[in-house]
Amino acid sequence: MFMKRISMALCLLVAACGDGADGEPTPEPVAYKDMSFEQREAFMYDVVLPQMKDTFVAFDAKYETTMSCETCHGNGVADGSFAMPSAQIAPLPGTEEEFYAALEDPEFARWSEFMLEKVWPQMASLLQVPVYDPEATPEGFSCSNCHTHEEPSGTP
Ligand code: HEC
Ligand code: HEC
Repeated sequence: MFMKRISMALCLLVAACGDGADGEPTPEPVAYKDMSFEQREAFMYDVVLPQMKDTFVAFDAKYETTMSCETCHGNGVADGSFAMPSAQIAPLPGTEEEFYAALEDPEFARWSEFMLEKVWPQMASLLQVPVYDPEATPEGFSCSNCHTHEEPSGTP
């Protein structure tokens, strides 16, 4: 169902589904990593934004009216790069130690829990990439794919 929705959405926008020549549309879902920039843009509109909006709204109703491409991409929308991580998302602490210290703020902890349990795994799954694991998948998707990090304090 889910894959079907993706491929149907892409087929509306991408001529590459089936080759059209033999008149037999055989939709092949394109993996995110193999998508062109334009396909990624369409995938974000059709799949990522609506699904992530639901997730963010369940956490805080304000996202009903505010959630947009800018929520994640910041200035990358206006400049057309959609580059991630985005400097307009609050930077995370620069070291593990500082991260644990920041968790003492209940608001930071509440957000982090939401990110850890919902946003991070869902985004990785939408992009069909493994989640970061220091041993198994050190190149995997992590908080740092969306957030920049502060300089560790004490660095000159
Ligand atoms: C919930 C966060 C989120 C939202 C909302 C979101 N994106 Fe993305 N977008 C990402 C992430 C994460 C990536 C992949 C970054 C990576 O490869 O590590 C990405 C990648 C992209 C890329 C590919 C960039 C490249 O260099 O290949 C485009 C284009 C894009 N997004 C456009 C959009 C558009 C247009 C919207 C609004 C319709 C949107 N995004 C909404 C998180 C988001
Ligand atoms: C798909 C992109 C994405 C990923 C992955 C992600 N975040 Fe976020 N995070 C966001 C966005 C977008 C916001 C800000 C929403 C806003 O400004 O309304 C945010 C906000 C936060 C905030 C609140 C910041 C503040 O001070 O307002 C914290 C804390 C946070 N994230 C921690 C994390 C942690 C920890 C991880 C990894 C477990 C993580 N995030 C992974 C996109 C992401």
